[in-house]
Amino acid sequence: MNKRYLISEVAKQFNVSKNKLRFYEKKGLIKPKRDDENNYRYYTEGDLIKLQAILLYRLLNIPINDIKDIINNNCSHNMLEHFNKQWLAVNDEIHRMGLIRNSLENIMDSIYDSNNVRLQEKIHNSIESMGKIYEIKESWKDRWNFDSWANTYDNSVKRNIGSTKIYKKYEEVLENVYRLGTKNTPINAKILDIGVGTGNLSKKFLENGYNNIIGLDQSREMLNVAKSKFPNLKLRLGEFLKIPFENNVFDLIVSTYAFHHLNEEEKSVAIREMLRVLKENGKIVIGDLMFRNEMTKKEIYRNFSKEQISEIEDEYYSNIELLKKEFAKYNKELYSYNIDKLVFVVEIH
Ligand SMILES: C[S@@+](CC[C@H](N)C(=O)[O-])C[C@H]1O[C@@H](n2cnc3c(N)ncnc32)[C@H](O)[C@@H]1O
Repeated sequence: MNKRYLISEVAKQFNVSKNKLRFYEKKGLIKPKRDDENNYRYYTEGDLIKLQAILLYRLLNIPINDIKDIINNNCSHNMLEHFNKQWLAVNDEIHRMGLIRNSLENIMDSIYDSNNVRLQEKIHNSIESMGKIYEIKESWKDRWNFDSWANTYDNSVKRNIGSTKIYKKYEEVLENVYRLGTKNTPINAKILDIGVGTGNLSKKFLENGYNNIIGLDQSREMLNVAKSKFPNLKLRLGEFLKIPFENNVFDLIVSTYAFHHLNEEEKSVAIREMLRVLKENGKIVIGDLMFRNEMTKKEIYRNFSKEQISEIEDEYYSNIELLKKEFAKYNKELYSYNIDKLVFVVEIH
């Protein structure tokens, strides 16, 4: 007969209370059988394996209902869904806490420095500006529905869809970002590709031996397509505004055709975020839809149809002059290279 364990033995072996075991049973996570004669619960070896998994997943703070779904449907796709969800929740909390910590640091510095001159005002300002950044980070939404575009994206690029023909020089944009990014960059550099999409830019790095590259994207479906095309590419779910990595870890950050999904306010938070995860002497290279300045935008609009203008206005093309100023706040220089009427590559260090 297979070995059976009483609840007290299980509780002792796993160092958990009997109440907790009953709670998992009540929630349907684990279903010990009952002895025919004395009606005592008994746990099989299989139950113990399940219990070990439950306790480990609890260490990751995964909610009970999600754990139930993971153990009842443990195919890798379903597991990835749950772990991704938890990854995002943890990352959100880290970002919230990071903002609170920064604000408290500023407040403490103000208290040390100010000799009580307008102290309340300084404290309130610090908290207000933290609140504003938090609001911006929390409110970004994918209103273009990239998940639904993932499977046909490469084909759209090939067909150069859209009235403004933004993909006409797609290959050239990717090539320039790769070339500028890898100039004086060692082969073992740590690289982040934000808005990796189906992985076409990352591919260039991988093909040339830059294997230490991670693709980040807010769309699960884009990541799925990228993974199926490039099984060796490391991928993570996440956003420009809440980059899920520690401070100062990347030598190079690259991005193509993604930055224009952020409005001006969001762009400044994203810049702050990119510089946070970038090493002190690291480099950022972005290939995207941009205007040199407001004047050139007006000139271009003058020759464009209504359809073309509304296509542009559905997104947030960068203004290079403003980007330059934003990076200058962090003592970073921006150099721009014009690829096409609406497409630029910018390099920041
Ligand atoms: C037009 S595709 C470009 C994909 C790829 N970089 C390329 O050049 O082909 C834009 C990608 O950026 C991602 N994206 C848009 N906004 C983002 C954000 N705020 N954070 C992370 N990814 C974002 C989308 O999910 C999508 O995969």
